[in-house]
Amino acid sequence: MTILIATEKPFAAAAVNGMKEIAQKAGHQVRLLEKYDSPDKLMEAVSDVDALIVRSDKVTAEVVNAAGNLKIVVRAGAGYDNIDLAACTARNIVVMNTPGQNANAVAELAIAIMIYMSRNEFTPGTGSEIKGKKLGIQAYGNVGRLVAEKAKCLGMDVMAFDPFVSPEKMEADGVRPAGSVEQMYSECNFISLHIPATAQTKKSIGYDLITLMPSGGCLLNTARKEIMNEAELDKALTDRPDLKYATDIAADNQAELNEKFGKRVFATPKKMGAETAEANINAGLAAASQIVDFFATGNTKFQVNR
Ligand code: 3PG
Repeated sequence: MTILIATEKPFAAAAVNGMKEIAQKAGHQVRLLEKYDSPDKLMEAVSDVDALIVRSDKVTAEVVNAAGNLKIVVRAGAGYDNIDLAACTARNIVVMNTPGQNANAVAELAIAIMIYMSRNEFTPGTGSEIKGKKLGIQAYGNVGRLVAEKAKCLGMDVMAFDPFVSPEKMEADGVRPAGSVEQMYSECNFISLHIPATAQTKKSIGYDLITLMPSGGCLLNTARKEIMNEAELDKALTDRPDLKYATDIAADNQAELNEKFGKRVFATPKKMGAETAEANINAGLAAASQIVDFFATGNTKFQVNR
């Protein structure tokens, strides 16, 4: 079988080498398409491949339909909102992710950004400490749990909201379950977002929630820009000059936000949550192994389009 690794944002070389080794040992061919600058290049590259490994690369219906032999797509990472699941399902193409494999990298970045914002983006002047502050985690999944664990080690008081996780599970981790998302926003100095971008969550973080935050509150987004209602974020920051917003995924109106709110907003130049050698290796190798296993045994444990 031919496996294409298509990454507009390439993996670390060690990850690519490891992926090739896993695939080639099982008798598969590997092709690499990195830093491509147009969807046409991806469409051309998928035309005869059997398997595709991507990161945040957009696997649209057009891409799927250009891939006549495609049997499996693995998103080396957690969020698969970049893949047209319906188009894949219609062609009986299996879609998988590699949950948890890059979670630690994203959690470390969330903590780093929280400290960076507390220290005024490392500019001279008096900042504040995160020790003793309240942190609210929205969605207690692989990343949320790791952020909680690290924040607790740093002396923070951690609360979480997740309708899909039992309060007992949170309590067992020393995390306070929030009675409602509103209660969490009202109480916490920091809110860290870890929800996926789905039809239900898109644009779900807006004015009413953000402005519940106490004075000096800071909202951290290392999840997806699509979950923000960007116009309402702008209005919340305008009406509440004490609030801050820091993100790993620049908003569509980021330039405008930067201009209007200066150091109260921060965005990394390019999404870098999973940009560590460790995360690349964990997610990349898991993706390659899942494909090898799928072709060898039909294992679909991590399939997301059932
Ligand atoms: C994920 O969903 O796994 C993260 O957002 C990382 O995405 P990336 O592979 O594009 O860096």
